[in-house]
Amino acid sequence: MTDQIHDMVRERYALAATQAATGSGACCGPEDGIGAGLYSALEQAELPDAAVLASLGCGNPTAVAELREGERVLDLGSGGGIDVLLSARRVGPSGRAFGLDMTDEMLALAQRNATDAGATNVEFLKGHIEAIPLPANSIDVVISNCVINLAADKAAVFREIARVLRPGGRIGISDIVAEDALTPDQRAERGSYVGCIAGALSFSEFERGLRSAGLENVSLTSTHLVADGMHSVIAKATKPMSPAEPTHARPALDELALASSGCGCGTGGCC
Ligand SMILES: C[S@@+](CC[C@H](N)C(=O)[O-])C[C@H]1O[C@@H](n2cnc3c(N)ncnc32)[C@H](O)[C@@H]1O
Repeated sequence: MTDQIHDMVRERYALAATQAATGSGACCGPEDGIGAGLYSALEQAELPDAAVLASLGCGNPTAVAELREGERVLDLGSGGGIDVLLSARRVGPSGRAFGLDMTDEMLALAQRNATDAGATNVEFLKGHIEAIPLPANSIDVVISNCVINLAADKAAVFREIARVLRPGGRIGISDIVAEDALTPDQRAERGSYVGCIAGALSFSEFERGLRSAGLENVSLTSTHLVADGMHSVIAKATKPMSPAEPTHARPALDELALASSGCGCGTGGCC
């Protein structure tokens, strides 16, 4: 089942990446509550047009993640790279922005957008968000934009987020979430799985998933409706500090590159 979901989702987003790269078949307008219209004119002006046009998110996670100079950010399901590029500017040359995606066409598009943006502190990794190819305790902030609803194993994603975050690290995630009263069948009546609707968790399922993974200070805030009873939300949470290790040292950047098996898109192109 997991492989089937990954294949179905990959096929949909490979097509979206090809359409974005060729400028054909724009997916979404601001009226859908999805895409570039969720970013300010100022943010859009910071980026190459192709990165803005490739946006398929349902929120603006970098606007709430309060990124600081020097931080390491990981974007789960980075698509055409819009949130990675915005993060890279916020964390500056001493920080690093990683994007993780399973779709080759999206990784290639994101890498091209990063090159056009002149970004040197970004790295795109190929892999599944259910098995993040980075070491434990290595990331300051996990962001994501309209991807967890697509994941085949949501509990694994929440566990992986908690694993890679350093103690005291935080999340700022946009996703689509259903009102608790909606059954899985009712969610599926409102839209498809690959369209980010049918696979959405409910508010209480999402909160429980984050808490069960060991995160605390969990909050979910609705920003807008995307379908009847289906909300775009911002999820925030933190990983508890470790009493045994109050000043946690992050692994060095070259250890992160080794853990990702070199299977990323850096200066040498994508694997
Ligand atoms: C709706 S798009 C959002 C892209 C991007 N976050 C944005 O805001 O434009 C979903 C992206 O997540 C990726 N994706 C979906 N499920 C994934 C999974 N299980 N592991 C890794 N990437 C995944 C897809 O390839 C696609 O690029």
